[in-house]
Amino acid sequence: MKTILVTGGAGFIGSDLVRRILSEEPDTSVLTYDLLTYAGNLDNLKSCIRDSRHRFARGDICDRERVGELLGSGEVSQIINLAAESHVDRSILGPKGFAETNVLGTVVLLEAAREAGIERFVQVSTDEVYGSLGSEGSFSEESPLAPSSPYSASKAAADHFVEAFGRTFGMDVVITRCSNNYGPFQFPEKLIPLMIRNAMNDEPLPIYGDGLQVRDWIHVGDHSRALLSVLKNGESGGIYNIGSGNERTNLDVVKSVLRVLGKPESLIRHIEDRPGHDRRYSMDASKIRAELDWQAEVEFERGIENTVQWYIDNRDWLESVITGEYRNYYSAWYSGGRTTG
Ligand code: NAD
Ligand code: TYD
Repeated sequence: MKTILVTGGAGFIGSDLVRRILSEEPDTSVLTYDLLTYAGNLDNLKSCIRDSRHRFARGDICDRERVGELLGSGEVSQIINLAAESHVDRSILGPKGFAETNVLGTVVLLEAAREAGIERFVQVSTDEVYGSLGSEGSFSEESPLAPSSPYSASKAAADHFVEAFGRTFGMDVVITRCSNNYGPFQFPEKLIPLMIRNAMNDEPLPIYGDGLQVRDWIHVGDHSRALLSVLKNGESGGIYNIGSGNERTNLDVVKSVLRVLGKPESLIRHIEDRPGHDRRYSMDASKIRAELDWQAEVEFERGIENTVQWYIDNRDWLESVITGEYRNYYSAWYSGGRTTG
């Protein structure tokens, strides 16, 4: 039985991937390694706890000794790295932690993976490394990296290290770059779950600037299916863009949420724009379609309806992740008291 190490497996996308591997790959075990930061939650893995093919270890990807020990036993043959600080607004409030986890943590994993002779290392990156588009065109895998935020800068730096380890040490590495995800278990700091929660509570919905920024929304299940496909069949040294071709303005997305919940658009409030806000992302995902026969399957309106219903049905989960830390973040960011440090 082969074992895949999934870092960040207690987060939003990581937990979806862990559930998918366990249900679709009967001859594979999963070792989830996660620090359980504010964004990580073992409740996200509730359905896997009793599975004998799943093991959880709490720890930091920056901890070289611990990561070396985990890989040193020879049990793990492949790594998918999803552990990260993942929220742009938090990266504006405090860039340093993003450099530590997203850059240094990735380098630590690469070093330990090389030492242990890991077969394949998949780095889960983002479309945000390409920067912002005007109203035309899409990002291909050849587009230059031009990150705008501390978050995307840290992800781009990590991508460079992953490619460097491939070229310099001959490691089998693959990078994926996906567009904005939505779906169950997403932490309510990101646009869609934040708007769902606020609307459910009849609280204002904060839209940055004019709300006409465009994102290419993909359901998390389509993303995790793509990751598994890349792990199994992606070309060594390759980069794969992942997107659904479902471009929407933020205002359209928020109006869809309100429609599904039966709440009024008068809840929408336009607030100060995010500094360095990328205007538009659009992914050309033709490479992964042609090479791996993958394409997004979840149609947006259906995906949003199911996602809103999930948050209604899982209000306990939603309220359980609202801690003092979250309230402090929320008031620091949305009060406009935006400082760096
Ligand atoms: P998330 O914030 O929900 O989860 C991140 C997980 O990483 C959490 O469980 C957290 O506890 C863990 N973690 C953080 N720091 C750690 C550390 N130092 N050591 C070990 N674990 C640590 O994020 P997500 O939305 O699930 O994103 C997962 C990955 O996918 C990230 O690398 C992100 O950059 C990438 N990505 C996200 C999106 C998106 O729309 N959410 C799109 C493309 C790519
Ligand atoms: P987000 O979910 O933070 O993802 P990203 O910044 O990685 O794309 O934000 C998605 C879009 O929604 C982005 O254009 C910023 C905007 N946004 C708001 O207008 N208001 C909000 O409260 C949040 C969290 C995001």
